[in-house]
Amino acid sequence: MPIVMVTAKTHVILSRGEVAAIVGRLASAIARDYRDKNPLLIGILKGSFVFMADLARCLDFPLEVDFIRLSSYGAGTETTGSVKVEQGLRSKVRGRHVLVVEDIVDTGITAAFLLEYLKKKRPASVKLCALLDKPSRRRTPVVIDYLGATVPDRFIVGYGIDCAEEYRNLPDICVLEEDGGKK
Ligand code: IMP
Ligand code: MG
Repeated sequence: MPIVMVTAKTHVILSRGEVAAIVGRLASAIARDYRDKNPLLIGILKGSFVFMADLARCLDFPLEVDFIRLSSYGAGTETTGSVKVEQGLRSKVRGRHVLVVEDIVDTGITAAFLLEYLKKKRPASVKLCALLDKPSRRRTPVVIDYLGATVPDRFIVGYGIDCAEEYRNLPDICVLEEDGGKK
């Protein structure tokens, strides 16, 4: 197994073992609700790629996986509230039971946009699973149907989550010692 060094600039807030337990708990709840529904899991790139890989492998029933790439316009670390689809879905959403898989819900603007975007495609149902929630930063209300953990208003990296494309490969969920990275 490759060893990834956690640099001095980060500290662990959820270890890989804690994350695995959280993912297992989320998978149990999702399995209860979706076992016979052949759901379509839609991950928001890029931050959800590690979470999606682990979550999907905890689900022991038929499902499909797709990804969508979204970007929010704006300079620096603050989102402007305007979201654009950078890379769309290949899957047909109409009539499907859709579960959105997100790394962090922060202002809520990205998740709220995607839920509305998907609802227009007339799925049988659409719900949201988020690994992390930063509720102190919310600007748009979002219902998180399956939530892993609540985190403080600090800049999070690791387990797929980046700061300026760095740190996605850290196996633990960490906080950057110095905030101020870009999203
Ligand atoms: P929103 O503010 O809820 O729209 O979140 C937009 C995106 O910013 C999310 O999809 C996350 O990937 C990313 N994001 C939010 N908080 C953090 C963070 O602490 N570290 C890295 N990315 C973040
Ligand atoms: Mg993201």
